[in-house]
Formats: sequence, C-alpha cells, structure tokens
Amino acid sequence: MMYINEAVREAGKTVKLAGWVHRKRESGGIAFIIIRDRTGVLQVAVKKNNVDTHSWEAAENTTIESSVKVEGVVRKDQRAPTGYELEAATFENVQISEPYPITEYQSTELLLDKRHLWLRSRKMTGVMVARAHIFKYAREFLDGEGFFEVTPPTITLAGGETGSNLFEVSYYDKKAYLTESSQLYAEAMVPVLEKIYSLVPAYRAEKSRTTKHLAELWMLEPEMAYFDSEQSMKLQESMISHIASRFVKNDGDIIELLELDRKELADVKPPFKRISYEKAIELLNGKGAKLKWGDDFGMKEEMLLTEDEKKPVFVTDWAKEIKAFYAYVNPDDPRTVLSDDMQAPHGHGEIIGGTQREWRLDKLTERMREVEEGTGVRFNMDNYEWWLDLRRYGSVPHSGFGMGMERVIKWLLNLDHIRDAIPFPRMSNRLYP
Ligand code: 4AD
Ligand code: MG
Repeated sequence: MMYINEAVREAGKTVKLAGWVHRKRESGGIAFIIIRDRTGVLQVAVKKNNVDTHSWEAAENTTIESSVKVEGVVRKDQRAPTGYELEAATFENVQISEPYPITEYQSTELLLDKRHLWLRSRKMTGVMVARAHIFKYAREFLDGEGFFEVTPPTITLAGGETGSNLFEVSYYDKKAYLTESSQLYAEAMVPVLEKIYSLVPAYRAEKSRTTKHLAELWMLEPEMAYFDSEQSMKLQESMISHIASRFVKNDGDIIELLELDRKELADVKPPFKRISYEKAIELLNGKGAKLKWGDDFGMKEEMLLTEDEKKPVFVTDWAKEIKAFYAYVNPDDPRTVLSDDMQAPHGHGEIIGGTQREWRLDKLTERMREVEEGTGVRFNMDNYEWWLDLRRYGSVPHSGFGMGMERVIKWLLNLDHIRDAIPFPRMSNRLYP
C-alpha cells in the first residue's frame, strides 16, 4: 500500500492505494473516481471493458466518502485534475458510505455541527498536517536549545492570571479549576531542570466571541533559569523564526492550497521590531484609537498596530496594572513591568505573552497585596503557599512565556478564524461534537 503522493512518483508502475471517494462521475463506460488520502487526491479511471464485473459493480455502487482500495497503473495525464490518473485493474469498496451530509455549499454552522466529517475536507486535512508539524517544529527548536518537556497538572486549586476566566470543576468534595496557564508549575520545574517547557491545554472561560479566542487552547510555556526578559525575547524570536522557516521549507502543499505568501514567511527572521507600551499607545492614538495608560489592546488596536507589518512585533514594558501579579517591576520605571507581548502581523493578534518573573519573596508578596488593593480580588494564600516556597528555597531570577499554538497556526496559515486551527474547537457557543 502507498500514499497518493508516493504513487505519482511511480508513473508507469502498478500501485495499490487505499483512500476515500472525494468525487465521482460516470461517462461512456468509464467511472472517474477521485480518491483522497492524507497526502492528496488522484483521479482513478475504472473502465467497464478492462476490469472484471466485481470491480465494475463496486465502482458503480461507490458513493462519496466510501472507503475504497484500488490497484492499477499511474500515468501522467494532462486532462486529470492533478495531472495524473490511475487506471484501475481492480476496485473494491471497504465500506459504502451512506449519503454524505456535506455537499458543496454549506453554512458555517452546518460545517461546525458536522465538524467530525468536515475535518476530511482538503483544507482541513492540510491544516491538520500543518498543525502537527508546527507542534513538532516548536518542540524540536526547544529540544535543540537544551530544554526538557514537562507535564504539569491541568486541574488546579488556583489561577495564575486574572482568575476571572476560570472554569470550575467539582473535584471530589472540593472546588477546583481547569488551568488557565501552566506557568506556576513550570516555575516549580526550574530548580529541577533549569530550562523547561510544557505544551498542554489551557482553559479560558472567555465571554467575548472573537475570531481569536478559544475556551480550550494549547499553550506552549517555556521557563528559563537565569534568563532576563531580554534573553527571553531573543529566544522567542529565534523560535518563531525557526517555526516559520521549517514551515516554508516543509509545508509547500498547504502554502500552495491556501495561497500563502512564501517570501513573507521566509523573511520572518530576527530581530523583530520592538515598541514600548507607552510608545504604542501614542502611535495607536495617532491612528485614531482612544487608549489611556493602563488600557489593554483589543482587536481594533491589534489590527491598527500590525496591519502593515510582515514580521511579528514586540510590545514591551506594559503598565503593571494590566499584567499579572508575578511580573517583575521595571527597575527604571515603577509604572511598568518587564514584559513582552509578541503581536503577529496583519492583525492576527497576540501570539506570545512573556515576563521576567518576580523571584524575591518580599517583593512578590508586596505586589500581591498591592494587586488585592487595586482590584479588590483576594488571593487565597493557602493555595499559593507551595508556589511561594519556590521563592523561599533557592530562588533564582527567571523568565518565561506562553505561546498560543492556535494563534500561531492562525497567523502562519492566514486563517480567518481561530476555530479552524484546532480539530474540535471549544468556544462559548460550541461544545458539540
Ligand atoms: O498572555 P497569556 O494570558 O499569558 C499567560 O498565561 C502566561 N502565564 C504565560 C507564561 O508566561 N507562561 O497567554 C499566553 C498566550 C497568549 O499570548 C495567546 O497567544 C494565547 O496564550 N491565548 C489564547 N489563545 C486562544 N484563545 C484564548 N482564549 C487565549 N488566551 C491566551
Ligand atoms: Mg497576554
């Protein structure tokens, strides 16, 4: 058995393929059946006069999405949709599909209801290949830099970010929460393995319905001993550049299918532009935004900031009131923290959020009290005791960041909506299938 992309390299020889019926028509004693597999599509011609009755009947009876096996010789053929045709010697149905519920023009809602089937479309197949590759490129980069992958729990007692978007779960006789970030556990691994990353789901009960927000996303979270935020940003640039260049070299099929700008992607090389939060506010207000100090960016501001960019842009030194309590206050400017967000080009939005961490116990607890006063949020300190221990026993300066895998996929593949970057999107209005 072979894949279609291998078979077309064996023109003139007999090959065996297994796939699914993508399209079908019959004309003058020939059934033209386009089959698909994970590597592409290929036209199969089953000629009534050249095959036994068993194969001919199978070809006549087959339906869209039937699983099939075919054997025959592949030839170059200009008339066939991909320039190749397989003339069948035998054709067999593994399972004849019931009438397929997805036809050519379908509403977005129907395609989401039939997501488990829609994933077989050419576009979604390509996205799923690219997604698996992008996960691999990220891991291979960090592994090459001497990182260990670790696996934090995703059921937790407390949040690490704002805490307001947490999903509650009942955990025996207690209340627990699905993790919104694995950072606190990543930090605990720093004195163990020094450079680590986790790549697990994060959960956010986002109320806003946007094209960039999922309730369940896959977050890559590296954490590095003795890195300051400058070193962390260098690492982020190199990683993104590695992912983009591997994608350009290795994923030509999806680049072609989605008509992506290969040159622009190949040029995603360090250094990336940097702009402070303060300068970004000035720039955005100059373009018609109405931001005050302490305001976060929304969809509109992200678009204004990066619509003309070709590479990601760092926004650094954010106002401390909009970043989490663990961020290190800027020694040169107590209004800000040593933090960076990486914004993808063309308004695809924030792909990375990173900070240098406050590693000194007294400053950290002082900052937590300050946040409580500023926001009215109360930390349940019992839940954070273990994490504060990290600052009591051999604490070291460290930095880390979180990268939303689906945001990166959305940007690289220029997808309109983040839901297409993940097989089964979880959103406020979607839990089926
Ligand atoms: O910026 P965030 O909230 O940062 C953290 O959670 C840090 N604790 C991470 C760390 O330092 N270890 O989230 C990190 C990234 C964002 O930049 C964004 O790419 C993605 O996660 N993200 C989302 N992606 C899709 N849907 C959502 N609802 C997302 N929320 C965050
Ligand atoms: Mg963020």
